[in-house]
Amino acid sequence: MAASYLTPRPRDFIATELDDISYEAMINAVTHGRPDTAMLGFVNTISREDIALVVDFVRREFMQNKDRNTAYHTVENGWPNHQQYALAFPFALEEIALDTPSEQLSSQQRIGRRIFMQSCVTCHDRARVNDEGVIWDPRPVSYPRNQYSHRQTETTPPDSISSATPYARHEQAPVLVNLTAQEKEGEALFQENCAFCHAPDGTGKNWIGSFLEPHPRDLTDPVNMQTMTAERLRQVIRDGLPDTTMSAWKGVLDAGQIDAVIAYINRAFHPLAKAAPAD
Ligand code: HEC
Ligand code: HEC
Repeated sequence: MAASYLTPRPRDFIATELDDISYEAMINAVTHGRPDTAMLGFVNTISREDIALVVDFVRREFMQNKDRNTAYHTVENGWPNHQQYALAFPFALEEIALDTPSEQLSSQQRIGRRIFMQSCVTCHDRARVNDEGVIWDPRPVSYPRNQYSHRQTETTPPDSISSATPYARHEQAPVLVNLTAQEKEGEALFQENCAFCHAPDGTGKNWIGSFLEPHPRDLTDPVNMQTMTAERLRQVIRDGLPDTTMSAWKGVLDAGQIDAVIAYINRAFHPLAKAAPAD
């Protein structure tokens, strides 16, 4: 899946012959990476010896022997009789394009495509299609109201984050002392409702926030926050921002709760600007 989004795509080792790329060039690529590609150097991650072993392996197994090396649908992997789906294999293996007109398929192939669409497409995605269709435009996604949790408790691990990700440090709420009762209420409300997108530390640099387009506003950024008054905040939280995932909260939070969230933002992330004096 990742490979299909990368330009250039990672090399297809099965389609590569030993003469196409030298051993030294491969060692160099794994050690130092390839400039202007997603291939990073592993010099600080894997020892020189292990880099040599991995390159030996790729050259022997894939480039020379053309071995599949790993078959996924094996008995050990929990697929007792995968052969029963053989009619769908040509679609999974991208031998037949998924959008081939029905008239051009034999009746067996049509059955195979139906099996593929019912049982295989979830993992194999569209496999190969002739017409890629329109490229999706980025657009706001709706707030997932499911059981996603960005918090770790004693019994449940956090979803889709581990301490190894660059997002992890944005999953920490600031530790504050001497909060007023209102700020404390706001803290709980913010961490329950807003942190999902804006991150517990208010930066919007958590996992979900990084994927939303536009990104949730960084509530700690002095440039953003310089002109942010309580009035502006109140209006945005109440009514939302059109064309973004920032939804209107007026049906969820009452006026007192919104004020509590505002008090918390002011205390935890960035002091709010004073409103222009009314004349
Ligand atoms: C749970 C996810 C999943 C489902 C469901 C799934 N596949 Fe796969 N399949 C894989 C993965 C992962 C591979 C390995 C891909 C690779 O090595 O490039 C694979 C590989 C294959 C291969 C290549 C041989 C092999 O075993 O590695 C065939 C053929 C195949 N799938 C057919 C099917 C068919 C037909 C179905 C539906 C009946 C199906 N798959 C459903 C995940 C899945
Ligand atoms: C589903 C994701 C999501 C949730 C949940 C969410 N926001 Fe937002 N928020 C956004 C996005 C996206 C923006 C738009 C950023 C932009 O337009 O640059 C935004 C913008 C904002 C802004 C900036 C408004 C401005 O005019 O610059 C504030 C303040 C804000 N959100 C506060 C909150 C508060 C408080 C909550 C909880 C009550 C909350 N958000 C919940 C996604 C979210």
